[in-house]
Amino acid sequence: MCGIVGYVGKRDAAPVIVEGLHRLEYRGYDSAGLAVVHRGRLRVTKTAGRVQDLRDKLNGQASKSTIGIGHTRWATHGEPNETNAHPHTDTAGRVAIVHNGIIENAEQLRKQLQDNGVRLATDTDTEALAHMIAAELGDGEDVTLEDAVIRTLHRVEGAYGLVVLDTKNPDQLVVARNGSPIVLGLGENEMFVASDVAALVRYTRQVIYLEDGEVATITASAYHTKTLTGTDNSDHKTPTTVDADADEYELGEYSDYMRKEIHEQPSALRRALRGRLEDRFATARLGGVNLDARQLRNIKNVKFLGCGSAYYAGQMGAMLVEELARIPADAEPASEFRYRSPVVDPDTLYVAVSQSGETIDTLMAVQELKRKGGQVIGAVNVVGSAIGRECGHGIFLHAGPEVAVASTKALTNMAGNFALLALLLGRVRDMSAANGQRIVNGLRNLPEQVNQILNAEEDIAMIANRYAAADHMFFIGRVRGWPVAREGAQKLKEISYVHAEAYQAGELKHGPLALIARDMPSVVIIPSDDLVAKNLSTIEQIKARGGPVIALTSTDIPEGLADATIRVPRAEPELEPILLNIPLQILAYHAAAKLGRDIDKPRNLAKSVTVE
Ligand code: BG6
Repeated sequence: MCGIVGYVGKRDAAPVIVEGLHRLEYRGYDSAGLAVVHRGRLRVTKTAGRVQDLRDKLNGQASKSTIGIGHTRWATHGEPNETNAHPHTDTAGRVAIVHNGIIENAEQLRKQLQDNGVRLATDTDTEALAHMIAAELGDGEDVTLEDAVIRTLHRVEGAYGLVVLDTKNPDQLVVARNGSPIVLGLGENEMFVASDVAALVRYTRQVIYLEDGEVATITASAYHTKTLTGTDNSDHKTPTTVDADADEYELGEYSDYMRKEIHEQPSALRRALRGRLEDRFATARLGGVNLDARQLRNIKNVKFLGCGSAYYAGQMGAMLVEELARIPADAEPASEFRYRSPVVDPDTLYVAVSQSGETIDTLMAVQELKRKGGQVIGAVNVVGSAIGRECGHGIFLHAGPEVAVASTKALTNMAGNFALLALLLGRVRDMSAANGQRIVNGLRNLPEQVNQILNAEEDIAMIANRYAAADHMFFIGRVRGWPVAREGAQKLKEISYVHAEAYQAGELKHGPLALIARDMPSVVIIPSDDLVAKNLSTIEQIKARGGPVIALTSTDIPEGLADATIRVPRAEPELEPILLNIPLQILAYHAAAKLGRDIDKPRNLAKSVTVE
């Protein structure tokens, strides 16, 4: 997945584009570039590496161009280097293009171009489009840039969000979307294009989300949109106001976004709970879920679908639904669900979970469900995102912008919102008002309890520093502790590159115990439930084989049993996984910091994967 930015207006375009790319760098950060029109010619600047490297390269380049396009890359076609960095141009240097997505018939298109004598300069799929558009434009003036782009896209298979710049039409940009997110920002005599509002929210909060199969032509003062089949649908486009403001994207006092977002969790949880707890009926109110009480009662099963941390949050959600609503529930990686030709059950409520709302496997799982008549709601953080719009109704997570690649506050808000969903489903069934109120109060206490854990950051950091040098680490949990163990291992892997595995405690003696040794620390998760004794014996099993143990618990355990102990406040038992998860974020963060990792931009990863 990549980040693309476009600008046409009254400002010097290059600084606006570079600032936008900086905001989108979490989408991909292995190379970057931009193109402006300078004295009627394209001026393209590209670099392997970060947007900062591009900024340095541009320093001193005076180009008062008021139109331009830019790109920060997560390589799919062609290795990450300066040549393969975007923008790509045609041989004559008339047309420049930036693209997010994958052109599936690129090989065929590239071959056709080479057969027609075109010399390709890069290994990318995108370059082919630049040559094709230039060919459609020809030498005459009778073909508009918009038509040239549309004709080209009629021969393209695959996913794209793209912006095209033409030196002979230096007052307009043509934008197209099919599968990859594109948003237009409407300004005073200026227009912005970006993969995400993060790149333009400092200039305007009036935006238009392009739909799949749409093309837009923008100038400084106007825009119009049409479908690839040529229908002008500009009249149907109503701008929406972005609810995030630019400050939310600032680092403030923090050195990186992950630590900032870990510390934003109490306020993020409060925002998720605001207006959604109903004391009168001891239940939850989820205005975005368009299901009445009878429809909620008719749900026989709940299935959460997501990728990465969203999948693990779904596991926490399934546990909450089974415990509070007493209906069968589970979670499945969306990438598995969409490809296994699932049997879609009409009485099952499917929940598509995604922070970005753009993860391709989850989006395709939703489309598969809708094609088969499944009832699906979204649980997404980014308003206006593809999954949110595809589902049409659901739960907004209200975690605020999450920039760090490793998800923290969005995951906590996923689990918090799933507790609300479980409470709602429970209270339209046999869950008593007293039990409902217990959960309502328990949820209300969570933000402050998270705060208490954050206040113990230094102690957790000390433990992280002690074990950061380990090459491998186990995370072990049972029942409520199991999804916490999985997410804990995910976090450590994602940002510290320590090989971490999660295991159900009961499975340990059936294999993994063989790996226990002095240099293999284990985190054992011990919620306050009726399995404490079993979990303590798991610690003894590991200790008996010389394995160091970090105990993570909300209950009292014998002094000295574990090599290190991390305590969290006691919450309502069903809600404890939400708290137990927080110290593992902090542990991973400080282990990665100790190892000098780039915390916000871990290698080989991206904030959400919008391409296959
Ligand atoms: C990965 C991210 O690309 O996508 C993970 O690195 C994230 O942090 C996963 O959990 C799913 O993303 P989303 O946006 O669908 O929740």
